Amino acid sequence: MAGELSPIDKAKFVAAKRAADLVETGMRVGLGTGSTAAWLVRCLGERVADEGLRFRGVPTSSRTANLARDCGIDVVSLDEARWLDITIDGADEFDDELQLIKGGGGALLQEKIVATASDQMVVIADIGKEVESLGAFPLPCEVIPFGWQTTKALVEETLIQMDVLGRNTTLRMNGDAPYVTDEGNYILDCHLKRIGDPRQLGMVLNQMPGVVENGLFVDICDKVIIGFGDGRVETRDINEGTVEEDRLDFVESDNLFSDIAD
Ligand code: 5RP
Repeated sequence: MAGELSPIDKAKFVAAKRAADLVETGMRVGLGTGSTAAWLVRCLGERVADEGLRFRGVPTSSRTANLARDCGIDVVSLDEARWLDITIDGADEFDDELQLIKGGGGALLQEKIVATASDQMVVIADIGKEVESLGAFPLPCEVIPFGWQTTKALVEETLIQMDVLGRNTTLRMNGDAPYVTDEGNYILDCHLKRIGDPRQLGMVLNQMPGVVENGLFVDICDKVIIGFGDGRVETRDINEGTVEEDRLDFVESDNLFSDIAD
């Protein structure tokens, strides 16, 4: 029930609920990964069941695909959908230019491919994700397992010349083994503390042969929907330069709140 949600979960829920209203019948929709995106998928599943909303969802991870199917959403691949009307996803950090760090949930590669193949990318986040400059959250970098230690050393050496405050990187683990992405790759978390030039850093990292993709999203996000623990929602549109405020009432729903997970 809603009463059992923490303020952060309430904030994530209201952002997701507001974003779910953006989806219309007939749309092709990119579905993000993470706890906020999971709320979105549940809210969309509720609209499918209650209103007969019909759309095709392109998930950004196996986790999201499973949840979407469980929620009664028509799941298709990106190759089937080709191009998307909208992608809605969470973020680990966003700044005032709507530059993002993503990949805390390990799905940054599919997330970036799907978001880039969309007319519009909307980020849903609790207010705690807003930062003045990116980098306090470790930047995830997806790397090929072959020679990953050499790639790690190369990344750290390259970071010396970049406008960042730290250059330590750690291999993401899953218990005693490396964390493996849906594409079979590893993730290096880069502890940079502050990233002065996200665009430049993103381009330099992606030039290294062992690096598949990094979690910096620059010029991809169009809109952020920010949730607050008291039900307030703020929508910022970077293209329109608008800010809208709103408030959502929590409606107790056993379907949505009985399964707080992720
Ligand atoms: C997954 C992501 C997530 O969107 C990001 O980690 C935010 O997650 P959450 O909504 O659980 O805070 O990038 O790869």
